[in-house]
Amino acid sequence: MIKTDEVRIKIAIQKSGRLTEHSIELLTRCGLTYSRGRDQLICYGENMPVDILLVRDDDIPGLVQENICDLGIVGGNIIEELRLELIKKGTKRLFNVLERLNYGHCRLSFGIPENVEYIGAKTLKGKKIATTYPLIVEDYLKKQNVNATVVEFSGAVEIAPSLGKADLICDLVSSGATMKAHGLFEADTILESTATLIQSPEALSKTKKDWIKLLLQRIRGVLQVKESKYIMLHAPREALQEIRRLLPGSEAPTIIPLEGFKDKVAVHAVCRENVFWETLEELKEAGASSMLVLPVEKMLA
Ligand code: PRP
Ligand code: ZN
Repeated sequence: MIKTDEVRIKIAIQKSGRLTEHSIELLTRCGLTYSRGRDQLICYGENMPVDILLVRDDDIPGLVQENICDLGIVGGNIIEELRLELIKKGTKRLFNVLERLNYGHCRLSFGIPENVEYIGAKTLKGKKIATTYPLIVEDYLKKQNVNATVVEFSGAVEIAPSLGKADLICDLVSSGATMKAHGLFEADTILESTATLIQSPEALSKTKKDWIKLLLQRIRGVLQVKESKYIMLHAPREALQEIRRLLPGSEAPTIIPLEGFKDKVAVHAVCRENVFWETLEELKEAGASSMLVLPVEKMLA
């Protein structure tokens, strides 16, 4: 008999923070329905053997590496820090990066007190740098051939300079408001980060592999759909070539004759990029009329 645990996929996501809502939305758009456990920390999948565990983001790569969860969605910054730690420890088999997702964009940058002049990496020489990502920062300093002291902070890095605990910081920036509010300006960026899907390094059962393959295919479909539009328009036959050229990221469009019109056709196309007003205006210029742009709900290549 198969224990149910062996066929259920556990996916760890951030409990509360910038990735939570988007990660749940992504899984919901993959067709997953779930009921929330009484402790609110596990969502049990109802129509797929997929359970969501809501945990602290910093714990996610570790849970996946240790095979406590099969999959995890977490920021690239946290993944990179653990990757460097595992390499340092000599760990042979690291978690796999399956897909970079299109949300949770942020960057890891140096934050310098406003009264300090920044003239590139050499400014960092001999300085004390506060960060939550010591290994990423040390790796960067090594590559830049700069000697500096890295002090690890577990949170509230941005107050370190004003407390006299560091000369400058290296921290995540999204809008830039936090650094600004603490009298720091953003200097060089050392890592660009987005939400990323990772998988445990352990060998999985065939059933789990198949479910993960399916889920990944749906995730890719959801990511693609976000940018895609379905466009319908009428066009003079003679302008078809120009109109096809103007349709952003579309493959072979469907050309349909229009009842009662000899020299006019309807064109339907899926555009893999967003369709902006400018494009519609250019299409109109080329002779198109009756244009409609619709969102795409699902897509399977
Ligand atoms: C990061 C970072 C800053 C803030 C920057 O923390 O440590 O506090 O975001 O964002 P801003 O540029 O839009 O002001 P995060 O919210 O990721 O929380 P965590 O570091 O505690 O996980
Ligand atoms: Zn965090």
